[in-house]
Amino acid sequence: MSRRQPDRRRRETDEVPVQRLDAVSGDITTQTLDAIVNAANSSLLGGGGVDGAIHRAAGPELLAACRLLGGCDTGDAKTTPGFALPASWVIHTVGPVWRGGDHGEPELLASCYVRSLEEADRVGARSVAFPAISTGVYGYPIEAAAEIAVVTVRGASTDVEHVRFVCFNEPTTAVYARLLA
Ligand code: AR6
Repeated sequence: MSRRQPDRRRRETDEVPVQRLDAVSGDITTQTLDAIVNAANSSLLGGGGVDGAIHRAAGPELLAACRLLGGCDTGDAKTTPGFALPASWVIHTVGPVWRGGDHGEPELLASCYVRSLEEADRVGARSVAFPAISTGVYGYPIEAAAEIAVVTVRGASTDVEHVRFVCFNEPTTAVYARLLA
């Protein structure tokens, strides 16, 4: 019987699947993980929902830092420091607006998770909190969005060790808990 060869690519990058995934109810701005993800819009200049909460909690330096980023495409992600937040980093990603599901929304939403984890790797963040991207103002149905979130993060190869889904209400937490069980 031949001995299994080591995976050279994995050995070079150290990237492996995320070891710990959990879901909690709460406000993402209070999370003490290395990075929190913002569900932003393409201007990156603030807004309502989780975006507004993050800007309020981080303070005005966050907006000043975002102004230097030149916006962000849907499905992409860019990173700033966390300023007054407990998290060291804010990874700003732009989810798709729900337009019925056949305008590339699933791929764009998955890309938000992939690109956010790539940004986390780039800055050396080992723990990352995600909100339920696109499921508020942007109207993405929560069941479908949460499934994409969990499947995409589970399938990622990354140095991030802990991903936490921070849910703003109990029904959302229940959806994630079922998917993670
Ligand atoms: N912590 C965790 N989750 C939160 C928080 C919070 N503090 N506040 C809201 N949520 P949304 P989107 C949840 O609308 O759909 C902004 O104006 C919320 O319950 O924040 O991607 C941006 O500037 C929902 O489950 O983001 C964009 O214009 C989830 O976060 C637009 O909204 C996402 O809801 C982006 O829309």
